[in-house]
Amino acid sequence: MKILLVGGAGREHAIALALKRSSKEPRISCFADLVNPGINKVVKETGGEFFLGSINDHGAIIRAAQKVGADFVFIGPEEPNFHGVPDRIEESGIKCIGAGRKVAELEMSKASMRDLQWKYKIPGRLWYKKFKTYEEALPYIQEYAESVALKPARQSGGKGVKVIEDFQVYLQEDKRKVKKEHAEMIVKEHMKDYDDIDYKLLIEERVWGPEYTVQCFTDGRTVVPMPAVQDNKHAFDGDLGLETGGMGSISCGMNLKWGVDDDRAIITEEECRRSADIVKLMIDAIQKDTGQRYHGIAAGQMMLTSVWGPTVIEMYSRLGDPEAGNVMTALKTDLVEICEGIIEERLNTVKVEFEDMAVAVKAVCPEGYPDKRDLAKGHPVALEGAGEGVLWASAEETGGVVRTGGSRVVECVGTGDALPEASAKAEELTKSVRLTDGWRTFHRKDIGSEKSLLRRVQLGSMARDIYKYRERKGLLGKRMIWVPGKGLVEVG
Ligand SMILES: Nc1ncnc2c1ncn2[C@@H]1O[C@H](COP(=O)(O)OP(=O)(O)O)[C@@H](O)[C@H]1O
Ligand SMILES: [Mg+2]
Repeated sequence: MKILLVGGAGREHAIALALKRSSKEPRISCFADLVNPGINKVVKETGGEFFLGSINDHGAIIRAAQKVGADFVFIGPEEPNFHGVPDRIEESGIKCIGAGRKVAELEMSKASMRDLQWKYKIPGRLWYKKFKTYEEALPYIQEYAESVALKPARQSGGKGVKVIEDFQVYLQEDKRKVKKEHAEMIVKEHMKDYDDIDYKLLIEERVWGPEYTVQCFTDGRTVVPMPAVQDNKHAFDGDLGLETGGMGSISCGMNLKWGVDDDRAIITEEECRRSADIVKLMIDAIQKDTGQRYHGIAAGQMMLTSVWGPTVIEMYSRLGDPEAGNVMTALKTDLVEICEGIIEERLNTVKVEFEDMAVAVKAVCPEGYPDKRDLAKGHPVALEGAGEGVLWASAEETGGVVRTGGSRVVECVGTGDALPEASAKAEELTKSVRLTDGWRTFHRKDIGSEKSLLRRVQLGSMARDIYKYRERKGLLGKRMIWVPGKGLVEVG
């Protein structure tokens, strides 16, 4: 069995380790734009090869797959999906785990994703408006938009989203200005290099509630959910600071319980099931709309909101990073068997199981991340101890030396019977990482801690009280306004 893995970040290191555990003892090769030391180790141990090149260059990837005689290619990140790399690989006669260009539209265009959700009346849909130019959006931003999320309409690597709350009436003028400036920045800065989309800017109603990701394996017929994971986006403890690609993530069992024997949970099992049902409806809808079969991973980045309960914020066409560290660690079933089930479209015959365990992932970042990445880049890194449980992320190995790439350098994975225990183990692992030139690193201590769990459980419970009430009254997902003389009127 020979596999070519595409991508060189922490997510792909987690995938490589899961593939390596397979009883089929696969020979794992990797194609990435830099040599990730962790993946390189797996490649060496299993007798594979490491190829350097652009992960969007389908020709080079196909040549590498042919050279190693790959039984299949596993695409880790989203950009190759957006560039049709899985389509070209399959056309060349090589099997591939990765969303084809047409179905990857679910992630690539946040505007198309919302269109599809409304067209097929899929639960968890938010109100939105999409714009091709900044000028078109301007009157809307200035006159009408209140509490909103302003978004680049194309996925741009987790940059550019701004959520604006409008309840402080005395700040309305300033907020209008912020909205205007940010909308302009999205179109002029974040979207300027993309000519592969029609719509540039999305304005969405603003909602609140705990966020979580439900990642699923799919062969286009069957959708198999993995444990729900909560990512922590903000740079510093207490959810403060700039948003990052993800500072760490937690999971326990299928539904984010506190512990294996502690049922306090951020979301309930039923909410988990509903979220997976939504992902399935999205997959069915995109397949119906495009005629393309979905082979790979689809995930819902969800929020438990008071309006809908499980609500889609955005979709992924791949595993999340750091969320991959959680699910790949807890995966009990042979990942190669799952991949074969996807390729042969018989995923329903594979019994996919996960350990009932808590997993906490903490990303360690060089100072400067996320806004001054040039300062965070190029520092030599040493990992003291065996490095067991540490995933290499934005790190490059050249000539035997490992240097930081400017983003999260490693992801420390702790496990246990309960999240605070898993968090403490991940915390211990962060001590094994050192930048040998003395440059400082930082990470979040609070990921999976009792205090932060309590806050998240409470937030979930507040959103749940309201959406359950709405559900009982038949008001789930409905927006009502008060019209004098008429009373409550449903709109939209
Ligand atoms: N409609 C919304 N209401 C409230 N918060 C939102 C909304 N949309 C996005 N957000 C917040 O902004 C974050 C980033 O938005 P998202 O659509 O996931 O874009 P990306 O991850 O590509 O930056 C979300 O994780 C969520 O916290
Ligand atoms: Mg997101």
